Amino acid sequence: IPLAGVIGWPVAHSRSPRLHRHWLDRYGINGHYVPLPVRPEHLAAVLRSLTQAGFVGANVTIPHKEAVLALADVVTDRAALMGAANTLIFRPDGRIHADNTDGYGFISNLKQYAPDWAAERGPAAVIGAGGAARAVVASLLEAGVPELRIANRTRIRAEQIKAEFGAKIVVYDWAHFGNMLDGARTVINATSLGMDGRPPLRLPLDALAAGTLVTDLVYTPLRTTFLAEAEARGARIVDGLGMLLHQAAPGFERWFGPRPEVDAAARAAVLA
Ligand code: ATR
Repeated sequence: IPLAGVIGWPVAHSRSPRLHRHWLDRYGINGHYVPLPVRPEHLAAVLRSLTQAGFVGANVTIPHKEAVLALADVVTDRAALMGAANTLIFRPDGRIHADNTDGYGFISNLKQYAPDWAAERGPAAVIGAGGAARAVVASLLEAGVPELRIANRTRIRAEQIKAEFGAKIVVYDWAHFGNMLDGARTVINATSLGMDGRPPLRLPLDALAAGTLVTDLVYTPLRTTFLAEAEARGARIVDGLGMLLHQAAPGFERWFGPRPEVDAAARAAVLA
């Protein structure tokens, strides 16, 4: 029986077990996907023992996404570039392979809900410079965005991303981040603002052109204040839940076999 799970601390809030349970049932697979609450100081030992306990792999979430890179035997180029991994494959020889599918999930979600969207069409504006933002930046650059604007409350984290990812990045000051929207074709909230229990992201939207694609990595709630305000200005909005679904699909396929369908039933399973 193939076993997989999600390693985090805490991990009880993770929606991934519901999603994988749904897919396992749907494809009639006799496997399990479990939440694995692991303290940072135990991560190395747990990884080693999982490979010896019938696990075929795992997802990795906060706060372990960076630390697993040093513990894996093979790190994909994109995981190295993003400085984090979210998907581990335990090979039969015991070696741990680390990949990052967050950027793939981000782009796939936009393509699913806005099929005519293309990164090449114009500048993107990324709000935030944490781990989630790095995956978004890497995937937008790979998708061919001509210019990538970024603003973060702590400016030096945005400067650091520019230093690592190069010339297409333009850093905006947090105090003037409304200016980023002028001419932007894609706008992304990659901060944790707007999440249940946190203050909303409030961005001056005067410069937002109608038809601009606006998305939010926050998906609790699905319809954030930021998305609602952008939609009222004529933006095309895509919520963040699809990124969670799409980033999970490559792991499921590697561990359990079928490429799982990302559809309304999968969305409903996660929201149940
Ligand atoms: P993640 O890996 O989920 O991106 P993170 O690395 O803690 O988590 O990043 C969270 C992001 O939300 C950061 O861009 C953070 O800004 P700072 O780098 O200045 O901390 C942003 N963020 C969180 N709370 C915020 C707030 N109250 N105002 C503005 N930005 C906030």
